[in-house]
Amino acid sequence: MLKLNQLITQVHEEGAFAVSDRAMVLKAQGHPVINLGIGQPDFLPPDHVLEAAEKAARDGPHGYTSPIGILPLREAVAQTVGTRYNIEINPDQIVIVPGGKVTIFFATMLFGGNNSEILYPDPGFPPYHEAIVSSGAKPVPYGIREEANFSFNADEVLNLITPQTSLIILNSPANPTGGVTSPQEMKKLADGLTRHPHVAILSDEIYGHLVYDQSQFVSLLQFEHLRDRVILLDGWSKTFAMTGWRLGFGVWPLALVDHVRKLVTVDHSCVNGIAQMAGLAAITGPMDCVEGFLASFHQRRDLLVAGLNQLPGITCRTPGGAFYAFPNITGTGLQSHELAHRLLEEAYIATIAGDSFGENGKGYIRFSYAASQDELKQALARMADFLNP
Ligand SMILES: Cc1ncc(COP(=O)(O)O)c(C=O)c1O
Repeated sequence: MLKLNQLITQVHEEGAFAVSDRAMVLKAQGHPVINLGIGQPDFLPPDHVLEAAEKAARDGPHGYTSPIGILPLREAVAQTVGTRYNIEINPDQIVIVPGGKVTIFFATMLFGGNNSEILYPDPGFPPYHEAIVSSGAKPVPYGIREEANFSFNADEVLNLITPQTSLIILNSPANPTGGVTSPQEMKKLADGLTRHPHVAILSDEIYGHLVYDQSQFVSLLQFEHLRDRVILLDGWSKTFAMTGWRLGFGVWPLALVDHVRKLVTVDHSCVNGIAQMAGLAAITGPMDCVEGFLASFHQRRDLLVAGLNQLPGITCRTPGGAFYAFPNITGTGLQSHELAHRLLEEAYIATIAGDSFGENGKGYIRFSYAASQDELKQALARMADFLNP
């Protein structure tokens, strides 16, 4: 009998990938699949990014780079994030990683271990729970509720903190709900955290550029008194339509960077140079592409949400950010898994069952509206047929 690590055998695969694989099989069999499952923009990265990558493939860097990323890229990230929030960021706080997820893994490894407790959103991005479990920490969910417009409640989060709590994971704009936590609620949480100086915060802001009303978005880095214990997670995947390039960054408190650097050298040495050069072109180049993506997502959101609200048994709030809608489907009489499964197998629409994101996701399904307006209209028409047989 092999002596597998029990922490790892408990880990679950992220469900969105299995749905995507099944959608591809159905498509290959000739079925007219509309994929509203996996969360990735359906745009191409901007031309200047593709050109920078072509050039880097020829001219390099071809070897290992600094484990935490090439200096010009770290400088550009520090400058961009610093200017956006009007704060000073040292390029040595930036760690470039192969995709946003890696920052989750490193943060949970760093704050996990025996007897520690890590708070995470439910429903939330599934890798949070799995990364916490693999770190050996106890996962402690806090609620994300429809009545609160899919925000957390600061008092609820603060009340879950114990002397064992080492880390809180926050995510706004959020996956899977598209919820954006209001500046007031963020401030309440940030103020309350002064009473708990032993707790670090991982703020996953990977959808931070995809907010429909920027006055409603506040970054955790904007709270000065927390800056020595906030880790900001962001990257290129969602903002620049570069999910497959595997490129992300963390802004870490300077005192933690040496630990992260050790983990990088043990794990992957560095991110490939071509992706880093492409990422540099993306954040130092014109941002009109991102504005274009956002405008397009805005129209698609309005189309999908209006259509969902006309379907029998379904009600849907208007999400404030990301490219997800999380309708309440309890009125259909079907369970989340059953509805998502039947929509895929019978109507060829890929979605994700809400309870794959945690207990509180029961009674919902997630739509990624990173699809053309035509596809969204077709999906709505097929759902109307499915629900009104
Ligand atoms: C909330 C959230 N954080 C992080 C990520 C990870 O992004 P990446 O593809 O860059 O690893 C995702 C991707 O779906 C996400 O939804």
